[in-house]
Amino acid sequence: MSASAPTIRTELLSDRHDRNGFVSGVEALDKYLRQQAGQDIRRRVASCFVLLASGNPVPIGYYTLAATSLDLAELPDALAKRLPRYPRVPATLMGRLAVDARHRGRGNGELLLFGAFSRALRNEIASYAFVVDAKDETAARFYSRYRLMPVVSGGRRLFVPMAEIAKIFA
Ligand SMILES: CC(C)(COP(=O)(O)OP(=O)(O)OC[C@H]1O[C@@H](n2cnc3c(N)ncnc32)[C@H](O)[C@@H]1OP(=O)(O)O)[C@@H](O)C(=O)NCCC(=O)NCCS
Repeated sequence: MSASAPTIRTELLSDRHDRNGFVSGVEALDKYLRQQAGQDIRRRVASCFVLLASGNPVPIGYYTLAATSLDLAELPDALAKRLPRYPRVPATLMGRLAVDARHRGRGNGELLLFGAFSRALRNEIASYAFVVDAKDETAARFYSRYRLMPVVSGGRRLFVPMAEIAKIFA
C-alpha cells in the first residue's frame, strides 16, 4: 500500500489543537492564537479557524472572521454611487491571517484566504465586502494579488466587494 498525502482540513479552533506549537514568527499573531483566540470565540467577538494536516494538532495556519462595517465614504465613488445612501454598509472582517513559518510558500496562505472568502460568501447574513487590515506593506502586497484594494482614506485597510468574490467561485 502506498503512503497517501496528508489530508488538509479547516476547523473552528478548539482545545484539541496545539496552539503553543504554532510559530508564525510574528509574535503578536502567535500570542493571539495562544492567549486570545479562544476567549474571542467564547465571547462571540471573532471566529478563529485553523488549517490542519491529518494526525497533527499543530495548526498550519489560521484566520479570524468577524462582522464589521465600512463607511460609504471609504468606498470609491464608482462603487458608492451604486449603493443606497446609508452611512455604512455591512462587511466581513478577516482580522488576522497567519501561516506557520515552517509551512510558508506552499500555497497555505492562499488556501486559508480562499477558505475565508468561501465562508464569508456562504454566510446568509448580508455582507457587502470582505475587509482586511494588512499589518504591513508585505502583507498588503500579498492581499493585493487577490483583488483586495485600499479603502479611499488609505492606510492598510483593504477590501474587495463580495460580488467580486462570488465571481471567483462562479
Ligand atoms: C502572508 C502569509 C499569510 C502568506 O502565506 P504563504 O503560505 O507563505 O503564502 P502562499 O504560499 O499561499 O502564497 C500564495 C502566493 O502569494 C505569493 N506571496 C506570498 N507572500 C507574498 C507577499 N508578501 N507579497 C506578495 N506575494 C506574496 C506567493 O509567492 C504565491 O504566489 P505564486 O502562487 O505565484 O507562487 C504568510 O507569509 C504569513 O503568515 N506572514 C506573516 C503574517 C502576516 O503577514 N499575515 C498577513 C496579514 S496580517
